[in-house]
Amino acid sequence: MTALPPPAPPLALLAVTGLEQSFGGVMALAGVSFRVAEGLIYAVIGPNGAGKTTLFNALCGFYRPSAGSIRFADRELLGLPPHRIAACGIGRTFQNLQLFFNMSVVENVMVGCHLRARASLLAAALRLPGVRRQERHLRAWSMEALELCELADRAAQPAGALPYGLMKRVEIARALAAKPRLLLLDEPAAGLNDTETLALRELIARIRASGVTVLLVEHHMPLVMGVSDRLLVLDYGSVLAEGTPADIQADPRVVAAYLGGAVSYAV
Ligand SMILES: Nc1ncnc2c1ncn2[C@@H]1O[C@H](COP(=O)(O)OP(=O)(O)O)[C@@H](O)[C@H]1O
Ligand SMILES: [Mg+2]
Repeated sequence: MTALPPPAPPLALLAVTGLEQSFGGVMALAGVSFRVAEGLIYAVIGPNGAGKTTLFNALCGFYRPSAGSIRFADRELLGLPPHRIAACGIGRTFQNLQLFFNMSVVENVMVGCHLRARASLLAAALRLPGVRRQERHLRAWSMEALELCELADRAAQPAGALPYGLMKRVEIARALAAKPRLLLLDEPAAGLNDTETLALRELIARIRASGVTVLLVEHHMPLVMGVSDRLLVLDYGSVLAEGTPADIQADPRVVAAYLGGAVSYAV
């Protein structure tokens, strides 16, 4: 009797293999590999300059890595331009705030749906019925994203009038309005106070519960360790460790390179 083959590992939504990106003499990504299963909150941590933002920019097509592979939902993304990658279902927020302060909150979020918009400029200028219908859809999707971010009551306010913590939420809502399957958040807790950070943690959990896989770059360790299922630790463009929050906190290399000694991350 022949033995059964071992069960296949669960399919990864995102599988990054051997990713390399250099700037002049700096290897910002020196052969990075990792896999993210669908439905996870997966964090990427590491000291400043470790290559976290470069990784996001490579995943989104803003940079063209010189080697490696980025498979997302069984498609190769390497070499695709940013708008094609976004259309495949990857959304992101930026480390620095990118809002139109004079526009209303809901208009800022509607900007995120432009990928789904099909109307030509001429049709839009003539205000044809199809365009009005489409705008109604975009507004509905944007309001849905604002509800998830608990910002629906702010929809009509100018984005520039919101406190900083809520502005950062508008960016998350904008990324969600494009209905991504994978959402990349680059340092969403930067500049937030403790209450806002706790609310962010709940929001990230709600986003996952809504069916979106989350890739999170963040320095706030209680948030990262409390909300993530798995973590990738980058150091000088290489993977230092990968595992559950408990694995990572117990890894002496990570503690030495990044976490420092005698710190508790229980939340
Ligand atoms: N556009 C760029 N041009 C030149 N060097 C860059 C660029 N982006 C990042 N780097 C360099 O790549 C390394 C990784 O940077 P980055 O990905 O921003 O790190 P992190 O987000 O982990 O702090 C750093 O040494 C940084 O100076
Ligand atoms: Mg960064």
